[in-house]
Amino acid sequence: MKKYYIETYGCQMNVSLSDQLQEKMNTSGFVLADSQEDADIVIINACSVREHAERKVFNRLEYLSYLKKQKGLKIVVTGCFAQNQKHNIKNADYILGTYKLSLIPEILKNGKENLINVEFDEYRFLEPVRNSTYPFQSLVDITVGCNNFCTYCIVPYLRGPQISRRSIEIIENIKRLADNGVVEIFLLGQNVNTYGKDNSDICFAELLYKIHQIDGIKRIKFLTSHPKDFNDEIIDAVFTLPKVSRWIHLPIQSGSDRILKLMNRKYDVNHYLKIVERLNSYKKEYNLSTDFLVGFPGETEQDFEETINIAKSIKFDEAFMFKYSDRPYTASATFPAKLPEEVKNKRLELLIKIQREIEKEKIKSHKNKIRDVLIESQSKRNLEDAMGRDEINKVVIIKNKKLQQGNFYKVKIVEAKGITLIGELL
Ligand code: 5AD
Ligand code: SF4
Repeated sequence: MKKYYIETYGCQMNVSLSDQLQEKMNTSGFVLADSQEDADIVIINACSVREHAERKVFNRLEYLSYLKKQKGLKIVVTGCFAQNQKHNIKNADYILGTYKLSLIPEILKNGKENLINVEFDEYRFLEPVRNSTYPFQSLVDITVGCNNFCTYCIVPYLRGPQISRRSIEIIENIKRLADNGVVEIFLLGQNVNTYGKDNSDICFAELLYKIHQIDGIKRIKFLTSHPKDFNDEIIDAVFTLPKVSRWIHLPIQSGSDRILKLMNRKYDVNHYLKIVERLNSYKKEYNLSTDFLVGFPGETEQDFEETINIAKSIKFDEAFMFKYSDRPYTASATFPAKLPEEVKNKRLELLIKIQREIEKEKIKSHKNKIRDVLIESQSKRNLEDAMGRDEINKVVIIKNKKLQQGNFYKVKIVEAKGITLIGELL
């Protein structure tokens, strides 16, 4: 029996797909190895969204090529990275695009595939499984692909148009997962808010209501939303369904309407502010996180200032901040007025500094609040502590090593340390 190992780089979508692939490899007669060194086959499932991530994977491939020479290891490269870098990957046995990941066990068995297969033909979803790190959780890819074509983004070219998994299937899968002890469902897609639009299925808000009815499921999270599609029905579902986590990841990207237009984001700052107003109108705690992309071609000092201003006025609980880089196929790669690296670096640094200050200030507001914490693991810093997340997805550390992974505990927040909350059992 052949032993395999999967290395995963990139977003939650890749983590989810690797978990599903692992399950299919196991049921197809392959055996999970303890490490790359111990494996006959190494599968690299990697990301191409930003340039920086790709460089890391190329380095990794060099090491695996060395192992291949030493002991005849088979290397399979898949995911966005394979789709994008198909002609630059050396020493792989198979380079299989995003539509081919689900076929890897069959391809390895029959051994008749071409070196490169990145065709977009028929997309086949794999069955959602338990998360390999957190077995109480399942990452469920409800859509793949994207139709939005933000001008900086490579994803639509690497994952194809949006395809939604059928809602009947999603519900059946989640019921089965709940029967097997899963309590938390993490719904994934490039833009989950447009779920069901491509195949005339129920809409995203309705899907949330349906999943909410499933016994055994206690928490529902989702990623990623798009401001142009984050409508009132979805907001209402988030604030009225108690199992839905009031954590909203809503990338704003820029605070300048001019840049948002150039990015083809299809909303303006005012629209985003209206969403925030609506979130506030429910008078319930929530957690708003975002993505910022600085240094877009043509971004002026004034545009950037508008981004700083919006960061200061909205006060996001968390932000992922990136500096623009050209990606193949994208429209913005052909835009003039590219900014020098130093300017992009300076702007990114300043935004990070300001955002971190805001986060430090905001976290204090959680003190003395009562929260429901789902334990994920032991704390990384101190094995005597447990680490979990509350109903708005804030990380909470609890000084008690007896807490069970996958169980909920009522906790009082006693301290905010840096960006972490410390809680005590009630
Ligand atoms: N350069 C830098 N950041 C990018 N992102 C997407 N494409 C690029 C790019 N070309 C960022 C966006 C997106 C996040 C997942 O990655 O902020 O929301
Ligand atoms: Fe990329 Fe925009 Fe689609 Fe997100 S919504 S995956 S940023 S094209």
